Amino acid sequence: MRMSRYFLPVLKEDPAEAAIVSHRLMLRAGMIKQSSAGIYSWLPMGFKVLRKIEDIVHEEQQKAGHMPMLMPTIQSADLWRESGRYDDYGEEMLRIKDRHDRDMLFTPTAEELITDIFRSHVSSYKDLPLTLYQIQWKFRDERRPRFGVMRGREFYMKDGYNFDLTKEDALHAYNRHLVSYLRTYERMGLQAIPMRADSGPIGGDDTHEFLVLADTGESEVFYDSAVTDLTFGDREIDFDDKAQCQSIMEEFTTKYARTDETHDEAVFNEVPEERRRTARGIEVGQIFYFGTKYSDAMNAKVQGPDGKPVAVHMGSHGIGVSRLLGAIIEASHDDKGIIWPEGVTPYHAGIVNLKQGDEEADAACEQLYKELTAAGLEPLYDDRKERAGGKFATMDLIGLPWRITVGPRGLKNGVVELTSRKTGESTEMTPAEAVARVKDIYAGA
Ligand SMILES: Nc1ncnc2c1ncn2[C@@H]1O[C@H](COP(=O)(O)OP(=O)(O)OP(=O)(O)O)[C@@H](O)[C@H]1O
Ligand SMILES: [Mg+2]
Repeated sequence: MRMSRYFLPVLKEDPAEAAIVSHRLMLRAGMIKQSSAGIYSWLPMGFKVLRKIEDIVHEEQQKAGHMPMLMPTIQSADLWRESGRYDDYGEEMLRIKDRHDRDMLFTPTAEELITDIFRSHVSSYKDLPLTLYQIQWKFRDERRPRFGVMRGREFYMKDGYNFDLTKEDALHAYNRHLVSYLRTYERMGLQAIPMRADSGPIGGDDTHEFLVLADTGESEVFYDSAVTDLTFGDREIDFDDKAQCQSIMEEFTTKYARTDETHDEAVFNEVPEERRRTARGIEVGQIFYFGTKYSDAMNAKVQGPDGKPVAVHMGSHGIGVSRLLGAIIEASHDDKGIIWPEGVTPYHAGIVNLKQGDEEADAACEQLYKELTAAGLEPLYDDRKERAGGKFATMDLIGLPWRITVGPRGLKNGVVELTSRKTGESTEMTPAEAVARVKDIYAGA
């Protein structure tokens, strides 16, 4: 992409409506534009990161054996009456009437619809286990939409649903989700800690929320600082291996880590004092085992091995895809702008031409652009006739992890400069070396 052709409406001034840094930076970097309270348009730069995050979620879900599908955003109220949630959901549900005066709604989540699909097509235990998921827009008419995409009314969410014959199988599905989520967040450069959470009206204590520690988080959390030393890394995992998934689940959830809803002072006090932490966190996902709540209410049964009908054991598992953009920025920025982790960066490297119009500088930039593109990478080339200072400020604001700076003076000595957005460190090298280095950096990502 060439900056001269890109639609990147950056703002010079801090927008007054943004109370937290991620919202401010997303507006300033031309990623989103509010259309009404809690509802946003995703401009090209924001949309690109959203897609990257979505791609990672898809890849990791499918590695875990879960199947992607898509359900409608507008649903009939009938199924929700069957489960009892049409009345229970309250004012957060956006209710709509169609021209025939039928009650419709914009989906805040999709347990009812997926259970209906399941019961229509699956009748034998032999078709289990089954986990289906989608990444789809949701709407919740939040009382206080705020913080940009972090608490929107319309938001993009991955929601997955498992159907299993037994509680044991459903808990394996729960563990599979926990493991796949750990991998998902790590690939985005995030540490998201699974914390025991409140199951709310659903009951049971099998639910964990994934929280990213940040001062601006809406949840109060309590944890043993040893949980922040845990990383999943690139270990091999067999998602069909129940014991392996169980042991990873235990590794990541045994140490004390809870949200305020389940916090227990007495248990917390058993953690050595120097490791007790109270902080704030952003909820970026939640996994849930709820047994036969929906299968009972909606009569979703399969024939068991003994020929008798059994209500299936279910769980649901969500990731806040659009909220993640905000969470990542909260966790990774400085006073100049965003610092994208390599796994989600909209463009792999920026090319800054210090003297647009200079024959040699232009040619060197074109060559870098060509070679990076040929290597399967996406550079963003700032080819505008602007001051170097302005170009640097824009690059810093939009946060590409690597910048290659090209100018006539360096080229005289055969070098360009490769700069890390995170450390600010610059190294001179030949253009060919710069391409090789950037290729190397992304080879593992
Ligand atoms: N209003 C929202 N805007 C953006 N993302 C959201 C919003 N509500 C929920 N999410 C994301 O979707 C994920 C799954 O939804 P879930 O039903 O668990 O949300 P929730 O527990 O009601 O969220 P919260 O407690 O923040 O309101 C959440 O973990 C969160 O990351
Ligand atoms: Mg939740």
